[in-house]
Amino acid sequence: MEILGVDIGGSGIKGAIVDTKTGELKTERLRIKTPKPATPEAIADTLLQLYKEIGYEGPVACGFPARVINGVVQTAANIDKSWINTEVEKLFSEKLKQKVFVANDADVAGIAEVEFGCDKAKHGSVLFLTIGTGIGSALFLNGQLYPNTEFGHLKFKGDSAEKYCSDSAREKFDLKWSEFGSRFNEYLTYINFLLQPDLIILGGGASKKFEKYADKITIDTKVVPAKTLNFAGIIGAAMYCERRLKEK
Ligand code: BGC
Repeated sequence: MEILGVDIGGSGIKGAIVDTKTGELKTERLRIKTPKPATPEAIADTLLQLYKEIGYEGPVACGFPARVINGVVQTAANIDKSWINTEVEKLFSEKLKQKVFVANDADVAGIAEVEFGCDKAKHGSVLFLTIGTGIGSALFLNGQLYPNTEFGHLKFKGDSAEKYCSDSAREKFDLKWSEFGSRFNEYLTYINFLLQPDLIILGGGASKKFEKYADKITIDTKVVPAKTLNFAGIIGAAMYCERRLKEK
């Protein structure tokens, strides 16, 4: 199927039409700045703008940076607090006059990476972590997603782990890549002890610079950067849309 996948993030809302069979983008990726303040109504308007500009008509899915259960936003770590308890699928569907599905951003990016990225990701236990403004997580067993994990919020060094070693923490504390790598390795050591997965895949902004801190990662589990990188969120959203459509 060819479906519009959208990745809603703190700085940009990005979308493209995706061939869900091949993971190929059928249009250029369109990016619109996330409105400020990023309230539900403002984001819904921006989504409508993107939908119209792409010139697409059909169902849509969005990756969203929060826990989303049954179409309702449950958390708001890095987004406007007014999102909590928002019926996001209803809001977006009414705005676009189309079916719109919404799921956690790391979960949908992980879906794309398992399908089109790392060859070994379809088997065994795989932890996918996105390192951006926050730290997102998606956990897979033999390719099946255990949704809505929030391992970026494990308590670590007195606060959420993402406050210690996300990409925004790296910027905030002005860390060199090697310093960031050491911090991230401490976090990985802890999460590896808790889950002991077969493989850990890193996505999000900081994974693009993986070679700058790879030597700081000392855990016994294999850690690799994602292959789908920039487009994982969009591709995964389109795949998620197809899955939801098939459920009906
Ligand atoms: C949110 C997660 C999200 C992650 C990455 C965290 O702060 O709690 O739901 O996946 O950021 O955007």
